[in-house]
Amino acid sequence: MTGSDGIEKYILPNLLKFTGYTASTSPDTLAGRVDVPLANIIKMNANENPYGCSPRVSRALAAYPSFHIYPDDGQQELRRLLAGYTGVDAARIVAGHGSNTLIDFIARLFVGPGDEVITCVPTFDLYRFSTELCRGTVVNVTRDDSFAVDVARVKDAVTARTKVIFLATPNNPTGNIVPRADIVEIIDTGVPVVVDEAYYEFSGETVMPLVDKYPNLMVLRSFSKWAGLAGLRVGYGVFPPRVAGYLMSIKIPHNVSVAAEVAVRESLADIDYLQSNVKAVIKERTRLFEALKSVSWLRPYPSRANFIYCALLKGSARELLLRLERRGILVRHFDKPLLKNSLRISVGKPEHTEALVAALRALEP
Ligand SMILES: Cc1ncc(COP(=O)(O)O)c(C=O)c1O
Repeated sequence: MTGSDGIEKYILPNLLKFTGYTASTSPDTLAGRVDVPLANIIKMNANENPYGCSPRVSRALAAYPSFHIYPDDGQQELRRLLAGYTGVDAARIVAGHGSNTLIDFIARLFVGPGDEVITCVPTFDLYRFSTELCRGTVVNVTRDDSFAVDVARVKDAVTARTKVIFLATPNNPTGNIVPRADIVEIIDTGVPVVVDEAYYEFSGETVMPLVDKYPNLMVLRSFSKWAGLAGLRVGYGVFPPRVAGYLMSIKIPHNVSVAAEVAVRESLADIDYLQSNVKAVIKERTRLFEALKSVSWLRPYPSRANFIYCALLKGSARELLLRLERRGILVRHFDKPLLKNSLRISVGKPEHTEALVAALRALEP
């Protein structure tokens, strides 16, 4: 079968030209393209934790005896552990294979053909991705020049077809938070609101204490960033209990691996260690910001996450990305209407900042 007479005629027409999510480059794919050994690559392109996971996680996984047994589909222990960490009732919690999958389950639960989902762009692209997969319509509300959410325009964008409003705080890729008063004003529309706090541990700002008060508030969190578990894939959401019940019934069975469950348990048992790494990243974020500011042709934006968004005042961000890549330093680049000629740089260890800044000085456009 080839061309449009082939398998395509069976595929959903709306998915034939679907724009997928652009994932960051993985070092494994770079052999021959970089001038340094792959082991020496400095990865500042995916907001991972440069300190890795807790050593307790590695030890527990190496010793785990039962990988041949399915995980508990009801996530009972996991939900209890997450309830302890977040301070909310376990009946509100649903865990997933990364918080990405919670975004997807939310879209499946709320969004059908013609329904509208409001996002505040530029923002994390998964909200569009999952909405479009469910044949919903994304209503983009543009942020202002400093990337603040325009609350009045979000409220104006609400229609009878609006099913969900997504707010990332801190926002990816711009790094700024949405002030709590703005979030509450948007929650007051009565529309289901998802507050994506994937970077909460680096910002210290959360609306979790509001979940009891607002029956339309959902909060997403991740273990990818603060706990260094991006590769193991585990995230969770806190929902109104009835919504958590519906999500538990539509989620893919066994959607969190036993390895991820073990990793959450051991991470939470080693929380002081992980929080000290978070503190080191926050400290380094300030150093990285100052270092980027000292480069005359860069304009970094203040960040409350573990990355810094940075506009280029001369030269091409794409060129720069490729030249940094050659030297073994990976960053993310953007060049689209709302994110013109810019980079997003994840906060690394102090030596990563040094190497990046030395490379930037050598590569001035
Ligand atoms: C705003 C935001 N939400 C959610 C995620 C998904 O994280 P994960 O699926 O690794 O938990 C990311 C990852 O980059 C993100 O930036």
